[in-house]
Amino acid sequence: MAVPLQLLVFVSGLTSIWCEGPKFEHATLIGHLDSRLYDASGVAASRKHHGVLYTHNDGDNKQPFVYAINASNAAIISALRLFPAENHDWEDIAVGPCGKSSCIYIGDSQSHKIYRVEEPEFVYSDQILTDVAAVQIEWSHGFDTVMVDQHGDVYIVQSHTSHHRQVGRLPHDQWNSTHVVHLHTIHLPDLHLPDNSPTSGDISPDGTQIVLLSLHKVHYWIVSHGDNVLDTLQHHPIASLPTRPVGATEGICWDTNGRNYYEVAERSSSSSPASVHIYNRV
Ligand SMILES: *[C@@H]1O[C@H](CO)[C@@H](O)[C@H](O)[C@H]1NC(C)=O
Ligand SMILES: *[C@@H]1O[C@H](CO)[C@@H](O)[C@H](O)[C@H]1NC(C)=O
Repeated sequence: MAVPLQLLVFVSGLTSIWCEGPKFEHATLIGHLDSRLYDASGVAASRKHHGVLYTHNDGDNKQPFVYAINASNAAIISALRLFPAENHDWEDIAVGPCGKSSCIYIGDSQSHKIYRVEEPEFVYSDQILTDVAAVQIEWSHGFDTVMVDQHGDVYIVQSHTSHHRQVGRLPHDQWNSTHVVHLHTIHLPDLHLPDNSPTSGDISPDGTQIVLLSLHKVHYWIVSHGDNVLDTLQHHPIASLPTRPVGATEGICWDTNGRNYYEVAERSSSSSPASVHIYNRV
């Protein structure tokens, strides 16, 4: 019969679209980063300031600075010092809700602390952001990925192991804890990730899309209605998205619409400074 056959073709067509995931253009260079950001390690899109990204160096220089940069040319807008905070090994940054406000979240892979501070009202001058909160987490591994969902729950992903990586969740109501917070954990499926991977990840502002960046690969999940981030990450990703086949790409984030994504790569040589690229959805 003709109708069921058409239906079958239609359904299998849908399935293949679903499995391939959304389509993105190849990388477009936005700009190179100032030499102050020689070791750019994470990136996150401001939800308060249109066209602004936040980025930072990893812990080698021990300075607790976040830089606000222009999302259309990568120029530094301001340096934001977090206080009190220490940068032993800041590996990733995310922006997400904190109550009714929007906060910057940062993970220190060495001291096993997660920091958060409200996004500043004004980004056009260097300043010290006080009122930084910190949570000490119980975690025995390194992590290079920090993500925040639409409820303000924070997720970190283990990076150094040959086995399945652990993903831990810090619930949004733990920010007044004075004790070490135990994380609820699951394992990622085996994605054959190289050591030191994933290097970054992000959850779209509406909570429906997750990306994890590893060497030469971006893994993509859709959070189905009724599922949560940990349920979703126990399954294999539904697609691989484009990334650049070179260098140390250390940070990834969605734009504020969850439509396009940005990547930062650290400086690979004096002639190849740290850079920011965008991947536009087709
Ligand atoms: C980014 O730079 C462009 C070009 O100089 C400028 O028009 C725009 O206002 C800047 N955006 C922000 C958020 O500062
Ligand atoms: C933390 O404690 C302060 C003061 O006791 C309170 O106002 C705030 O709502 C608490 N925050 C959370 C996330 O529980």
